Amino acid sequence: MMMSKLGFIPLDQAKINDLLTPEINNRISDAENGAIEIFDSVDSTSDYLRKKITTEHQVNICITEAQTQGRGRLGRQWHSPYGENVYFSLAYPLQKKLTELSGLSLLFGLVICKAIEACYQLPYKCLVKWPNDIKINEKKIAGNLVELKTHSVDHCHAIMGVGINVNMDIADQKQIDQPWTSIKKLSGKIYDRNMLCAKLIEYLILSLQRFEQFGFQEFLSEWQERDCLLGQEIKMKQSDITYTGIGVGVNRLGHLVLKLEDGNEKAFISGEADLIKKN
Ligand code: BTN
Repeated sequence: MMMSKLGFIPLDQAKINDLLTPEINNRISDAENGAIEIFDSVDSTSDYLRKKITTEHQVNICITEAQTQGRGRLGRQWHSPYGENVYFSLAYPLQKKLTELSGLSLLFGLVICKAIEACYQLPYKCLVKWPNDIKINEKKIAGNLVELKTHSVDHCHAIMGVGINVNMDIADQKQIDQPWTSIKKLSGKIYDRNMLCAKLIEYLILSLQRFEQFGFQEFLSEWQERDCLLGQEIKMKQSDITYTGIGVGVNRLGHLVLKLEDGNEKAFISGEADLIKKN
């Protein structure tokens, strides 16, 4: 355990359980060995759950004070200093075909925005950048990583991992390769992360239940309200091809749609989308 810094409030399983509604506690209480596990340090909360879960497992959650091998999208590392931020993964069993799951990371982005806004009354709106970034004032505050552990063609666990910058106010440019912010940087205050973890669990489970029933199209209008690529000029890199076009939103599966220079619309299931900066 590290020396505590002024205002530091540790992660606390009992506190998180108390903050959950009875409906959510019931949904997770049938998991073996306790549904919520909190660690001082793990390699990666998502890797921990991937190794742990079997076909029988229901909802399982892993939260930690630090990660030694936190992972981001496209093999990047996720800076995970002790006690400062939220490093959280939730494994959820889904009976759906793999082709229907591409909207999961978008749904998760919306959940993260709503959880941040519910816990910290910041005078800013959280926006989503397709497919997995959460931004405030054009700076990244959180990122999610959705991975699947497949059991059969239509049964898997979605492992939904998120890192949210809460109390971090200094990091080396070498550790984070893009403009970033945190709740502390925006508010000047150090916050308890337990409420944020409880809200993530609650909103995520409720959204996943809706997703299982109705698919990603249920979330399209919410996405539109927070989509920071909408109406913007975008450069989309897919392996060695770069497309440019205007962001016109996402389709019912969560694929990004661009109106290309030739007037045609093209949907992208994956790729790196960046705003074209005007001088
Ligand atoms: C990204 O923006 O590239 C996604 C970052 C996801 C980081 C989280 S932290 C908790 C979970 N465990 C990991 O190793 N990664 C995710």
